[in-house]
Amino acid sequence: MTIDATSRQVLPAQWYSDPSVFEIEQRRIFGHSWQLAGSAAQVAEPGDCLPFRAGELPLLVTRDDAGALNGMVNVCRHRGSEIVREPGRHKRLQCPYHGWTYGLDGCLRAAPRSRENPDFSVDRHRLPRAQAAEWSSMLFVNPDSDAPPLAGLLGELGTILDATSVPWSAMGTPIRREWEIQANWKILVENYLECYHCPLVHPSFSGVIDMDDFSWRESEHFIIQGGPIRDGSGATGSDLFTAYIWPNTFLNTYPGPANVTTQVIVPVAPDRSVLIYDYYFLEEVEEATQREFLEFWDIVQQEDVPLCESVHRGLASGSLPEPNLMLPREDLLGWLHGRVRGAIGDEFTS
Ligand code: FES
Ligand SMILES: [Fe+2]
Repeated sequence: MTIDATSRQVLPAQWYSDPSVFEIEQRRIFGHSWQLAGSAAQVAEPGDCLPFRAGELPLLVTRDDAGALNGMVNVCRHRGSEIVREPGRHKRLQCPYHGWTYGLDGCLRAAPRSRENPDFSVDRHRLPRAQAAEWSSMLFVNPDSDAPPLAGLLGELGTILDATSVPWSAMGTPIRREWEIQANWKILVENYLECYHCPLVHPSFSGVIDMDDFSWRESEHFIIQGGPIRDGSGATGSDLFTAYIWPNTFLNTYPGPANVTTQVIVPVAPDRSVLIYDYYFLEEVEEATQREFLEFWDIVQQEDVPLCESVHRGLASGSLPEPNLMLPREDLLGWLHGRVRGAIGDEFTS
């Protein structure tokens, strides 16, 4: 099947569950895209380490003693263990399995018992490089060390964020929530790219945001969505603002206390994704207010999960050849489908 990269033709249902599509996506999309790892504050000091997954690929970002950011593959060159599993501060990176030890730049420094092997040389082993970049106080990683710089791809998005009057630059360490969801990653992205489902599925959210005034705008590499606070809802703070960055990152600010909320959708299997929510608040926001805010968004998320899992099962059943989009409300799904087709369409034949 030959596909026009600019086509907005919807994706076949099979593309949401076929393992060969998933494998091509890993290689051609997640192996070459910038993905959000966390906030720059999390790797501000020498020795700070932040592990992350770009799809199936474990990655690591470190700040070395010279102050440089290093991105690398977080897979030991010995027999493949992940080296750093939790954010933390280290002088060296020691693999927890047999103790091979790397510098913060990813070069192997020592391996136990290596003197017994005259053919072994630490110089022959280093963790493959990835790119890491700070952008608007956030930390992005790209497994492809030759990929174009992030700032060029995002262009005016930085200015658009600044205009929201939300403290993007004050992001410190987030409160993290992770959800494992039995659904293909594209179903989760689609769920955040349309609010057609909001009045029925999210009554509390729809009571706060005016869906009739919901708007969206596409750029080549990102999409902006927004909705004003509904008159008389009692909500405070800024209006809803969401930026989707291809392929799996969302940056949001929600009504309520000054906040930044990010979502990253990590595809771990054709039918399984990990959804990472990071919530950032200004220091002066009281804990009780933070808790109340998190509870509200936990409920919204719990409303979405069973529906996304249900869509996955329905599409995998083979009974619907392709989704029927309700335009213009679901226009952005067409944008996503065009990007996916453009990335993998010439390789996959169904
Ligand atoms: S797998 Fe890392 S030291 Fe053995
Ligand atoms: Fe939803």
